[in-house]
Amino acid sequence: MSYRIGIIYDKPSIEVIDNIETNYTDNQKKVTKDAIYDILKKKYEVVKILVDEKIVERLVESKIDLAFNLSTGTKGESRQSQIPAILEMLGISYVGSGILAHSLALDKSKAKEIFAYHNVSTPAFQTFNTLAEQLNSHLNFPLIAKPACEGSGYGIHKDSVVYNKKELEKKVKDLLQNYHPPVLVEEFIEGREFTVGIIGNGKDKIILPIMEIDFDDIPEEHGKFNTFEVKTKFEDLTKFICPAQIDVELERAIKDEVSRAFDVLGCRDISRVDIRVKNNKPYILEINSLPGLKPGYSDLTKMALVSGLTYEDLIFMIVDNAMKRSK
Ligand SMILES: Nc1ncnc2c1ncn2[C@@H]1O[C@H](COP(=O)(O)OP(=O)(O)O)[C@@H](O)[C@H]1O
Ligand SMILES: [Mg+2]
Repeated sequence: MSYRIGIIYDKPSIEVIDNIETNYTDNQKKVTKDAIYDILKKKYEVVKILVDEKIVERLVESKIDLAFNLSTGTKGESRQSQIPAILEMLGISYVGSGILAHSLALDKSKAKEIFAYHNVSTPAFQTFNTLAEQLNSHLNFPLIAKPACEGSGYGIHKDSVVYNKKELEKKVKDLLQNYHPPVLVEEFIEGREFTVGIIGNGKDKIILPIMEIDFDDIPEEHGKFNTFEVKTKFEDLTKFICPAQIDVELERAIKDEVSRAFDVLGCRDISRVDIRVKNNKPYILEINSLPGLKPGYSDLTKMALVSGLTYEDLIFMIVDNAMKRSK
């Protein structure tokens, strides 16, 4: 019998982000699911499996050998872990990180606590669950305040960078009202920004060519960092430079740090790590344990191309790694 892979995907939805109705992640998800389906079909039997309340029944009936999990979940504080948890319960192997790593990666403040414990470099930080909490005196302005458990730039705007206690209080209040707590407040690293793709596991990990994200051409009024507005409206003005023009020492330092960050969170098969560099020292901002894979668009697919891997090579490589690991 041939090997059966199920592509697990989310129901399209319209989301309201900071009072703006958007479906910008939906198109990305649909294109990705269809592209991966077309590729995997060349070697395997493939089925698409929609995530909704009937997911358990669907998975049992599908009789798949491996799940290619693309579900970010739609609600709940551990949404990225819901499908891995169901797959684990049903004894189905799956591509990508498990329950704990996804939960930790989704909560940037918990990920940073683990980084701190293992001496993985990350900006100094504090979390706020209420407005009554005092700012730690060891934190130096400028600071950035962001929702701890979001992604895709949600809740990150130009005024997220604050220069004094008054601005910080206003921003923390705003985020506590609009997002699941806690609010993560960390030192704003003024320096170059990079994102780094990782495929594989353990010693066999491949770190894809590093990509620099250059905000020089973004008008000052929008903020020169990856805000929601920059990500969604000013992508054309953002320069994605891959491979990044950096010296070998910095390259090595970045690769070591992202690889350790991946390992200490217990990530598997694929991730993308956002970092900033100041005085030649990399600081891990976050790990995306379920990075976008839209062909020709998502950062990771562009990095793969630079390393000589076509989209098809990339998808087969991810699946091969997951199969090797789950044997
Ligand atoms: N501590 C920081 N120092 C400098 N820039 C930051 C910091 N934290 C976030 N940023 C900027 O905000 C962007 C989005 O933050 P990030 O934590 O990666 O959230 P998201 O999950 O929305 O991508 C980053 O790509 C970076 O440009
Ligand atoms: Mg990010």
